[in-house]
Amino acid sequence: MASPEVIQQIKSRLDVVEVIGEYVRLKQAGQNWKGLCPFHQEKTPSFVVSKERQMWYCFGCNSGGDIFEFIERLEGLEFPEVLEMLARRAQVTLDKTPGGEPNQRLRLLNLLEQAQKFYNEQLAGSAPAQAVRDYLVQRQITADSLKTFGLGYAPAEWDKLSNYLRSQKFSVAELVAAGVAVKSERGPGVYDRFRERLMFPITDVQGRVVGFGGRVLDKEAKEAKYINSPQGPVYNKSLIVYNLDRAKAYIKEAGFAVLVEGYMDVIGSWQAGVRNVAATSGTALTLEQIKLIKRYTSEVRVAFDADLAGKSAAERGIDLALTAEMEVKVIALPFGKDPDECAKQDQVAWQTAVTQALPIVDHAFMTVLKQVDASTREGKKTAAASLLRAIAKLPDPVEQDYYLKKLAQEIGVDELALRQRFGAQASSFKKESIVTPAVPVVVDRQRLIAERLLALLLRYTDGLSGIMTDLPAEMLGAPELSELYRRWLIYYNKVQDFEIDEFRQELQVEAEMLRLLDVLSLRVEGDLADLPEDEAVKEGQVLLQQIKQNYFSQELKQLSAAIREAEKQGSAAELQSLLARFNEISQQLSSLQS
Ligand code: CTP
Ligand code: MN
Repeated sequence: MASPEVIQQIKSRLDVVEVIGEYVRLKQAGQNWKGLCPFHQEKTPSFVVSKERQMWYCFGCNSGGDIFEFIERLEGLEFPEVLEMLARRAQVTLDKTPGGEPNQRLRLLNLLEQAQKFYNEQLAGSAPAQAVRDYLVQRQITADSLKTFGLGYAPAEWDKLSNYLRSQKFSVAELVAAGVAVKSERGPGVYDRFRERLMFPITDVQGRVVGFGGRVLDKEAKEAKYINSPQGPVYNKSLIVYNLDRAKAYIKEAGFAVLVEGYMDVIGSWQAGVRNVAATSGTALTLEQIKLIKRYTSEVRVAFDADLAGKSAAERGIDLALTAEMEVKVIALPFGKDPDECAKQDQVAWQTAVTQALPIVDHAFMTVLKQVDASTREGKKTAAASLLRAIAKLPDPVEQDYYLKKLAQEIGVDELALRQRFGAQASSFKKESIVTPAVPVVVDRQRLIAERLLALLLRYTDGLSGIMTDLPAEMLGAPELSELYRRWLIYYNKVQDFEIDEFRQELQVEAEMLRLLDVLSLRVEGDLADLPEDEAVKEGQVLLQQIKQNYFSQELKQLSAAIREAEKQGSAAELQSLLARFNEISQQLSSLQS
């Protein structure tokens, strides 16, 4: 695999703030950057990125690392792929072959890239593609879009792409695995999956082609309007949001994502200047897709074809987004059967519709109150039933409260009665499990105290070194904390002075210690930056006290268990020594408390 030098080289060429900033909105805070942790649900930022140290750390879920670990975790990639991705970005060439097969997945990605180029060239150059070029003109797809979206043409022949890829040294099995060819039922061969179609390359968030959607050209054709790549080693439809790679920067800029259904809608919207647009490709949003979008924004504005009501797939996706605490707004199409038609007819009308999107419940209010006559008993009942349902889906009780009031006013029903009805009904709308991992982040208090004390020590060595002298390292609990502290003691006793960077030099070879030191340093730079020294010393004393108390109480607990055991066993000598030790520690503990 890659040598440490190569990894170092990649790291030195990439900026951690820039790389992570593509996924997490970061704000400068002192010498570091802060944002909402992408690995657990939180409302106040505890995710810190340090430019100087080229690392990230979340104080909420206690995870951290370098850019490799960030991408690995966030993109769910294997290390070789992360390496490949970051190497490409850093323009570092990887020495590929030593003693092994290049990663199979990477070969398939390469195959798909070549297939995309092939389709693209067919579209540009081949005579039979004239019909497709005419079609694009008729659909008002510009030459720019053709390039941006990498559109292509799959020729009518049964084996043109397959033959081409075979000539590029890809195996039949690889063609099938990548989804571009289908095993022939008779005989050993394969044939092209996509024929005589307009091709939309489907890319992942990093812009790599992972599959295709092929649209039929002949309106009268009996075949499916779209054929898509099948699920496979590189294409997983529930993990892909079409166009997210191109849209993500625009999404961050706009503060929301526009979600449409089809490839054509994306292109139409893009051409109309609304570029923060992505598509669900005609299916309900999955949890994975929502998570993906949540990296860039917590607001989606959905524009689904003509009427949203009753489209259960779309609705399910929206419900899921709500449960994931995303803000969901609905874009009402002023005209046209879909966003594409609307945007092509009138760019400004589309832009305005996007700007004027209403929060989903407001949208529901508007549509429902248009449909029923809220002055009648029947009308009130229908409106209440349907809108209470919509309100129940909101995860925030404050918002629910707001809409309950509004509903009472709009349909002229007593608020209290409405609330009673809501209470009875709401529990029946059981919420689906949400994006946040169900397991809450476990906070190890003892560890937090120990970390905080060490951080104080690193920042205010002179002030604190005095009070620390009687803290035995093992009292810090976690072995790595004790070890770091032990190392610090040795270092401090040697030089009688402390410079964090020099101490770092000492630790240079031990990755785990260095990492811990970095995390502590982030603490120092973060919450401790403005703490006056005398307060730091006071706090240090309190923490020290707590650590000792914890330590002694735990010792006592263990000793009591051992004493009970010794009593059972009837070993008098052992019992005596345990009791002596118990007394000794009890005294130490009570002297602490006095
Ligand atoms: N879709 C699909 N298979 C189908 C029909 C649709 O996978 N048989 C997906 C495609 O991703 C498509 C989306 O659902 O883009 C929306 O469908 P539709 O609105 O019918 O297609 P458009 O892309 O909008 O194409 P057009 O405007 O030409 O009808
Ligand atoms: Mn359409």
